[in-house]
Amino acid sequence: MSETVVITDVGPRDGLQNQPQVLSVEQRLQLVNAIADCGVPQIEVGSFVSPKAVPAMAGTGQVFSALDAAEFVTPTIALIPNMKGYELARESGVKTVTMVVYASDGMAQKNVGMSMAEAELVTLDILKLAKEDGIEVIATIAVAFECPFDGATDPAVVKNIVAKFLAAGADQLVLADTVGAAHPQQVRELTATLVASHGAEQLGCHFHDTRAMGLANVYAAVESGIRRFDSSIAGLGGCPFSPGASGNVATDDIAMMLQQMGFKTGIDLGKLMQASDLAQRLTGTAPGGRSKTWLQGYLAKQVD
Ligand code: COA
Ligand code: ZN
Repeated sequence: MSETVVITDVGPRDGLQNQPQVLSVEQRLQLVNAIADCGVPQIEVGSFVSPKAVPAMAGTGQVFSALDAAEFVTPTIALIPNMKGYELARESGVKTVTMVVYASDGMAQKNVGMSMAEAELVTLDILKLAKEDGIEVIATIAVAFECPFDGATDPAVVKNIVAKFLAAGADQLVLADTVGAAHPQQVRELTATLVASHGAEQLGCHFHDTRAMGLANVYAAVESGIRRFDSSIAGLGGCPFSPGASGNVATDDIAMMLQQMGFKTGIDLGKLMQASDLAQRLTGTAPGGRSKTWLQGYLAKQVD
């Protein structure tokens, strides 16, 4: 039996937050529905952040309400930066939150105006509350490999965070290469050590394709046993607070690669191309996966 890899499309959050074009609630819903139609198993739908800091994410509560009203079945996730974000997410009926933990002081200061230690305390408080509220928590470790402000991240820092948050009850820990600075050997080493200590079930990876190493990094993590990945439809995105960061590895590419390697993703590649086209049309900036031209030709031939 083939193994399953769980892909979370973070395009509607990580992707859209950095676009010059601010999408309406209706357009965001259109994108989320198109991604769900492909069979993508989880979608990070938006974030509850200051609308002044990230105007593209204003209205995330309305997006969640509309999905609820439509009895949307794909599991959805909201990113939260702080306690206020958590409270807003809870009010909107969110069942899974991604909270960000920092592996460098520079990134914590730039992103949420706190030190690494302060941000860690806040996230541990949120985690405690979320467990009481029955809300699932994904802790994403920003700059798990390298920080644009503080340089290379010491793997020991990441290992400590993973151990601490798993012990505190986090449901999942995601290693984020926030600016796309990781290389495959580094990824292989860190993920192999973590899988040896904690198993792979609760671990995931989030790569950006800034230096064209996104897929190579996914492959390295797969080799270590990681089976959960974030990616973004049409390669949309980047973090507005990280100089030089480009979009996540495209869902288009990661789904094709993993399926060709024999993994089950639950994703229909033909429908995925349509969702990718929609993401490109709506934003005008999403590059589209590198696999797309080939894949569209290949799928067209299969139909004939
Ligand atoms: N959702 C909505 N509004 C929020 C909020 C949240 N999660 N957290 C704070 N705010 C509001 C406050 O109510 C306040 O509003 P006001 O000016 O109308 O009174 C304002 O934002 C400033 O609040 P403050 O607590 O002083 O925070 P700050 O100015 O230090 O900003 C953040 C910190 C985290 C709120 C802000 O930088 C942010 O939302 N950043 C987004 C980070 C992000 O999305 N990163 C991408 C993920 S990697
Ligand atoms: Zn990201």
